[in-house]
Amino acid sequence: MRDNHPMPDENGSLRVGVVGAGAFGRNHARVYRDLAADASQRVEFAGIADTDFARAQSVAAEFKTRAFLSAAELIAEGVDAVSVAVPTVLHLPVARELMQSGVDVLIEKPLAASISEADELITVAEAYGRVAQAGHLERFNPAVRATFPLLTHPMFFEVHRLSVFTPRSLDVDVVLDLMIHDIDIVLTFAKSKVKEIRAVGLPILSKKVDIANVRMEFESGCVANFTASRVSTERVRKLRFFQPRQYVSLDYSRQDVLVLTMEDGAPDTLGMDPFNPASVVASALPGIVPFKPKLEQQEPLKAEIASFLNAARRRSQPEVTLEAGRDALAIATQIVEAIAAHSERAHLRDLTRARH
Ligand SMILES: NC(=O)c1ccc[n+]([C@@H]2O[C@H](COP(=O)([O-])OP(=O)(O)OC[C@H]3O[C@@H](n4cnc5c(N)ncnc54)[C@H](O)[C@@H]3O)[C@@H](O)[C@H]2O)c1
Repeated sequence: MRDNHPMPDENGSLRVGVVGAGAFGRNHARVYRDLAADASQRVEFAGIADTDFARAQSVAAEFKTRAFLSAAELIAEGVDAVSVAVPTVLHLPVARELMQSGVDVLIEKPLAASISEADELITVAEAYGRVAQAGHLERFNPAVRATFPLLTHPMFFEVHRLSVFTPRSLDVDVVLDLMIHDIDIVLTFAKSKVKEIRAVGLPILSKKVDIANVRMEFESGCVANFTASRVSTERVRKLRFFQPRQYVSLDYSRQDVLVLTMEDGAPDTLGMDPFNPASVVASALPGIVPFKPKLEQQEPLKAEIASFLNAARRRSQPEVTLEAGRDALAIATQIVEAIAAHSERAHLRDLTRARH
């Protein structure tokens, strides 16, 4: 624990910071600037650090804070809680240094570059009594939050996360870049151990897998199909699932949930296309009751950071633990291996080589 700035009590002001002033660290900085501007939040934005100092300076100037060259400089300045938004391969060394200096951390997803690194983060957080949160921000999406109380016995998930190609995060494949968001949500919703994974994935525009499809079966018998792509012509963020007598459709982007419930004694619904709920609602089939939970739109990152700071103040377990981050990473890693095995079986490398 740093000694020049004692940990504030529950009502005290928190000094916060960001390490990594890249594309996503900038978003964290924006949220901290907004919190610092609101006196009721009792947040001081101490600074942002980046080894690319010009980048740190530019983001610091934009969001009215100070620029530093390293996590060590930020620590010396005195901080209580910091977002770690450096490339994934550096999550462990940066977050470890912060935690060993008595700083609480919100670590971007994926939690780490390997399971053993994720384990080390968990060990360090425990050893130094730190509040450490994994950055799975979709947990804070109002549509996801509204879905929790609706869960009964989900048996089949269909998930699509499609993005238009941009030359970012190409150091990791689409499973760790995009699909991991949905892996975390489905693991949380399904509440069962994964029994089997089948996967296919292809590099299209980058050297890593750009599009992947996964079939996951849980011990409960629940099945989840995931499709993630970063080479799509459209942007889609949808998770749909079926549970007894119910269909639930969640749109992460629109922050919208639709529930269709079949009442007892409802007539046969032959002809209904559950993947086109609009048609079902429009046709007002007798016995099918549509319901849309009332949601208050909120930026998930804002809610995530607010939740992290709340846990830091109260010294309580964060809503998304490092263990949850590790679980999502472990499944993502199994998927990457399943894709590699499939690619081997299908001689995809030879096919790709033959094209060039
Ligand atoms: N939650 C999400 O939806 C989401 C979206 C995008 C990225 N991310 C995650 O955020 C993290 C950062 O991604 P990005 O797209 O912003 O990457 P980026 O490459 O744009 O930025 C990373 C920054 O970290 C800096 N940096 C590297 N080493 C450093 C060090 N030792 N100390 C301080 N700064 C250092 C780099 O100079 C760079 O400016 C990654 O883990 C990524 O997976 C999460």
